[in-house]
Amino acid sequence: MTRSLRTLKDITSQEFTQILERTGRVKAAIKSRKPIGSLDNRVVALLFEKPSTRTRASFESAIARLGGTPVYLPSADLQMKRGEPVKDTARMFGNYFDAIVARVYSHQTILELDEFAGVPIINGLCNLAHPTQAICDLFTVKEVKGDLKGLTLAYIGDGNNVCHSLLLACAHAGMNINVGCPDAYGPKEEFVNYAKDIAQKSGSKIAIMSDPREAACSSDVLYTDTWVSMGEESEKEKKLKDFQGYQINKELLGLANRGAIIMHCLPAYRGYEITEEVMEGPNSVIWQQGENKMHAAAGVLDFFFGK
Ligand code: CP
Ligand code: NVA
Repeated sequence: MTRSLRTLKDITSQEFTQILERTGRVKAAIKSRKPIGSLDNRVVALLFEKPSTRTRASFESAIARLGGTPVYLPSADLQMKRGEPVKDTARMFGNYFDAIVARVYSHQTILELDEFAGVPIINGLCNLAHPTQAICDLFTVKEVKGDLKGLTLAYIGDGNNVCHSLLLACAHAGMNINVGCPDAYGPKEEFVNYAKDIAQKSGSKIAIMSDPREAACSSDVLYTDTWVSMGEESEKEKKLKDFQGYQINKELLGLANRGAIIMHCLPAYRGYEITEEVMEGPNSVIWQQGENKMHAAAGVLDFFFGK
């Protein structure tokens, strides 16, 4: 049976750890320019409905470094744009490609691609999840902090796709997560409950709260994302008002543990969800995190296609 990474529900906690280990190995090989070869003679499609700087470029580079060939397919250039059903597109691409990395508006599109393509679908972000981002993120925390178990990540801001994937990733890794969101913008119960189920076995604590200070208190990682995700542009004005007080800044960092690190999946909107000062300050690992997008992409592909 073909396996996919639609969300982090598709893998076990043990497999999550294996992907982090593979990411470390492929990163070392990429750095020393050793051949990897997991994608030798394979072609991978990147089907993108939304813009991307990091996910597209890092997957294209990772595919090439693993010996494969990436093909970028923006949906605006496909017959999908003129109404061809996703399931018909999926069946064609399943013939031409060995895997599809897809960035789409609706999670339903990920599910349909998975149902009809017959090759692994890797979710490169949808409205509900951004699984490869969370793999990159926890790989980065591990690089900086060593062991993940028992650390606390505070996610401050919008309970969005990135937040959902961090909930599941932290639960898989045995990390605690405090989510601090305005009441109306909390993560979906489905993801919170699933994370709690995993956490029962891994021993992590999942806490959702509305006070960003309470969330930041005694945390080892302060993480945020844009308040206005792609596709939400019409809500911008309201969201900017509703998220006042949820900025990661020097004051919030002062509540976290000594040596706490600052993370952001990017793109960042300085002066809104995060200040320039903490982004560029000594606690920020944002640029290392950004680099690791490529290594995590390679780690995920190596998990699907490597030995
Ligand atoms: N973090 C992330 O997914 O960035 P892009 O939107 O640039 O791909
Ligand atoms: N939540 C953001 C993440 C961007 C990488 C969005 O969906 O636009």
